[in-house]
Amino acid sequence: MNAPLRAAANKTDPALAGSVLSVSQLAKSFDGRIVLNGLDFTVKAGVATALIGANGSGKSTLMKCLIRLIEPSTGRIEMLGQDVLSLSPRGLRAFRAQVGVVWQKHNLVPRLSALSNVVHGVQARMSGPRAWFQSLAPDTVRAEALDCLDRVGLADRALQRVDSLSGGQQQRVAIARMLMQRPRIILADEPDASLDPQSGEEVMRLLSGLARQDGLTLIIISHRMEHTLEFSDHILGLQQGKIVMDRPTPGTDAAQLRRFFEHQE
Ligand SMILES: Nc1ncnc2c1ncn2[C@@H]1O[C@H](COP(=O)(O)OP(=O)(O)OP(=O)(O)O)[C@@H](O)[C@H]1O
Ligand SMILES: [Mg+2]
Repeated sequence: MNAPLRAAANKTDPALAGSVLSVSQLAKSFDGRIVLNGLDFTVKAGVATALIGANGSGKSTLMKCLIRLIEPSTGRIEMLGQDVLSLSPRGLRAFRAQVGVVWQKHNLVPRLSALSNVVHGVQARMSGPRAWFQSLAPDTVRAEALDCLDRVGLADRALQRVDSLSGGQQQRVAIARMLMQRPRIILADEPDASLDPQSGEEVMRLLSGLARQDGLTLIIISHRMEHTLEFSDHILGLQQGKIVMDRPTPGTDAAQLRRFFEHQE
């Protein structure tokens, strides 16, 4: 599907009208130590939201709670029209299939080709060996995986083993694998963290551009202030277990972000 068609398909989806994520009174403690202390926020459909905060402020914990890789202690999460915390195991699998996730560590299979790794993204929809090796994948799946690699600028590396690609290229393969899932929302936890400044910026630009082209909601964590300012529409700042900043990115400048980081207790 080309970009305008993809965007149109997402825009006509009633579940994506208005807010796509609504979090209320979300709390998480580890062994009695409070990390998230009653968070309330909403994320609108199609908006790129940056989640910022000092090391240990709970950004990754929050992101993992959204898809229940970590079970929150209390609270409510409504995402993509689902009451996430009351989903059955089967419902949770179907829900997670719609959420594309990009981590700092991409967990690609190093000895397999870029194309086979991207084909793995179809496992959200299909199981068995045909979802594992590009050589066994149905033609339609193979073609879609190649299209995803093309969208991240790596069509010419399709048959190369991923362990022979650079860190930035590997992260782009991970993004292509995530696209193969046909996600309705993308969560990205420091996708730029282990990359050099230029590759990190390319990955951020790619992710925000793909999300915009497809009309997808993006929630992204980055420690780089310039990335937050350039690639987000909205900023949520986490401090002391609470959301203390919730504002549009336009009108926010580096000095305001610096002040936010200086006032950590
Ligand atoms: N599984 C766990 N068990 C116990 N404590 C945990 C667990 N996961 C996270 N924590 C603690 O929760 C706090 C928040 O961690 P989290 O990884 O969410 O922070 P973060 O904002 O993502 O930090 P960073 O910017 O360093 O990635 C930290 O004090 C961490 O030690
Ligand atoms: Mg983290």
